[in-house]
Amino acid sequence: MQRFINLFSIFFVLNVCAQSPGPVLTKENIPEVIAAMTPAEKVGLLVGVGWIPPGEGVMKKASGVAGRTMSIPRLGIPSIALADGPAGLRITPHPEGASHPYFCTAFPTATALAATWNPALVEQVGAAMGNETREYGVDIILTPALNIQRDLLCGRNFEYYSEDPHVSGKMAAAMVRGIQSQGVGTSIKHYAANNQETNRETINAVISQRALREIYLRGFEIAVKESEPWTVMSAYNRLNGYYASERYDLLTTVLREEWGFDGLVMSDWKGGRDAVAQMNAGNDLLMPGRYQYEELIQALADHTLDEKVLDRNVERLLELILKTPAYSNYDFSTLPDLEAHSAVSRQAATEAVVLLKNRGVLPLEKEARHIALFGKSSYEFITGGTGAGEVNYKKAVSIKEGLQNAGISIDDDLEQFYMRFIDSVKLHAKEPVEWWFPKKYVVAYAQEPIVPSHVIEEQAAISDLAIITIGRSSGEGWDRTDDTYFRLSDREKDLIHRCSTTFHAKGKEVIVVLNIGGAIETSSWQDDSDAIVLVWQSGQQGGNALVDIVTGKVTPSGKLPITFPVLYSDVPSSESFPGDPIDNPVHSIYKEGIYVGYRYFDTFDIPVSYEFGYGLSYTQFEYSDIRLNGEILEDNLEISFEITNCGKVSGKEIAQLYIKAPTERIDKPLKELKGFVKTGLLKPGESQRMTLKIGIKDLASFWSGVDAWIADKGTYLIEIGASSKDIRLKHPFVLSRDVMVEKVSDCLYPNVKIESSLPKR
Ligand code: BGC
Repeated sequence: MQRFINLFSIFFVLNVCAQSPGPVLTKENIPEVIAAMTPAEKVGLLVGVGWIPPGEGVMKKASGVAGRTMSIPRLGIPSIALADGPAGLRITPHPEGASHPYFCTAFPTATALAATWNPALVEQVGAAMGNETREYGVDIILTPALNIQRDLLCGRNFEYYSEDPHVSGKMAAAMVRGIQSQGVGTSIKHYAANNQETNRETINAVISQRALREIYLRGFEIAVKESEPWTVMSAYNRLNGYYASERYDLLTTVLREEWGFDGLVMSDWKGGRDAVAQMNAGNDLLMPGRYQYEELIQALADHTLDEKVLDRNVERLLELILKTPAYSNYDFSTLPDLEAHSAVSRQAATEAVVLLKNRGVLPLEKEARHIALFGKSSYEFITGGTGAGEVNYKKAVSIKEGLQNAGISIDDDLEQFYMRFIDSVKLHAKEPVEWWFPKKYVVAYAQEPIVPSHVIEEQAAISDLAIITIGRSSGEGWDRTDDTYFRLSDREKDLIHRCSTTFHAKGKEVIVVLNIGGAIETSSWQDDSDAIVLVWQSGQQGGNALVDIVTGKVTPSGKLPITFPVLYSDVPSSESFPGDPIDNPVHSIYKEGIYVGYRYFDTFDIPVSYEFGYGLSYTQFEYSDIRLNGEILEDNLEISFEITNCGKVSGKEIAQLYIKAPTERIDKPLKELKGFVKTGLLKPGESQRMTLKIGIKDLASFWSGVDAWIADKGTYLIEIGASSKDIRLKHPFVLSRDVMVEKVSDCLYPNVKIESSLPKR
């Protein structure tokens, strides 16, 4: 009864005040506006308006967004709209009453974008995405996602950039800068350690302080410091015992006090359990919200929540709102330049393509004019993954269409064979039970059809060569498995093998195209192929992008931002993924510590299929004349070197800077990436001098006992590589004394003992 009276009186106050006008929000009067707000208004603002079914309610303006905040008209506070996501804006394409469809551009997935190693291009993609966000009346786009690709089975890896925090941080920063240049906000997510989908809303990620600081937080730190995102989204999972969204040390001590973040933190959708703890931790906004309203009102009444905490969080939300198009009443057009954005998507998709293998078949000879096109994904391109990372685009260019656009014919009979199969899969698809497995993706998840041998023989007789596309999809809400994602199915291997035998018998070649979101197994079948081209899930222009590469219109310049291991069991986390107990995990213990990706494979000398940073070109590059601007590192060190195109066609090269540090006092990976740079388009014979800078923090390791980043004195080796294994230039330098680079707070320690799973060295 008492509770009812309290709630009633607060609602009463809200209603009375709601009628009285107050100060209208401006940059100058935030404290005054907060003072004029009722507690219920404050709570109402800090919990979103709840789930909004697509097309319902508030719309015309941005239908189908993921969430909104409440408006308070009497104080001039508008509602702001927040929409996904990483590969393009996700809104409803056909809102009620609209005079034309609201399509958005599907850009390459984050992993594909990272494969360009071209932050300037990623910034351009961001600007296009930001423009669509603004022109469709959305204020914040819930991207970029930059969790580390710890285990290749994580279902959302395609939304994340890399296994390496430096690449992840730089790419995310570029994306934020691009999007925010359009006057809309971003949300870097999921902070932190949302590295699996299995039990993502409850799983306890148990991570050493060192691995957290060096691997799982580092990308966020780079992005926060280099791009000032308007918002951060806290992760669903627990981290070392507590929900990420309820950890003051994570959301305030580290994020704000140490890194200087001054934006807003929002929860992931229904993330965390204790709304009061979230408010106190500095998780300012609860999304999609509403159901926590009573709990917070009650906590205020019970004095278990201090109104000052609400004031602090409201202040951050108002500061955010002031920056939005909603506040300035921006007259959005609903007519972004989709054609121009599609061109940006094509350019990014083309630069993302990684040539894994080439026995001289690529670029295609001009005479190769009739192609036998195998594999269902050749006809229905997988543009991206499912869930928050989906985009409602108008049209995607398939590989078949890409070839035809370039004047290359594909065999009609074979096309008919695949189209009959695709139609029948679609016809017989059941309505899915889970939202993250939409019907429109049934083809991507279907088994390859069995192609009769006589069909392959006919094709080998009449075609110039074969292209076989292997496709994979995955998505939010579930993790992939070794046998359905990583390894090829018997049918896929059999198709490659039979094509290879039959075409090779006729002296014709077989190219395998990988339309995938993350690493798959290649070592058991790659001998059957003459070339392997990794096109990723590269958005709506994927087919054209692939063809630009195979025809030689564009020289491939993408490199891997992840490792392709030989076996899944070679991945250091495979033993503990997705957690313990295996069938319904509670804890996910990161037993491999800092040894993620190439840091592990290189240090422990585990063979891989394709290493981190790898990618072939149609031309060759020579690296020469490395110079350092000093021998002894005191503050910043500048490293420059020359890259020359010594081949026969124009191309771009990506150079990577690794550091090998002394290991007398603390164990370290064999080498770590601390910089990268991409040349411009170099003509044959042309050279470019490249310059990279490293700072003292790039030499430092995180010492848990002393809570500090420390750079050890000793000799360091700079390695400039065309990949993590293909090192072209080396230069040592000396740090003459130990340097305590940064002292930080003692926090985020594991609540469960971590027994290392690493082999002895
Ligand atoms: C995802 C977020 C997404 C949000 C809103 C959540 O389930 O984890 O990445 O931004 O939904 O759609």
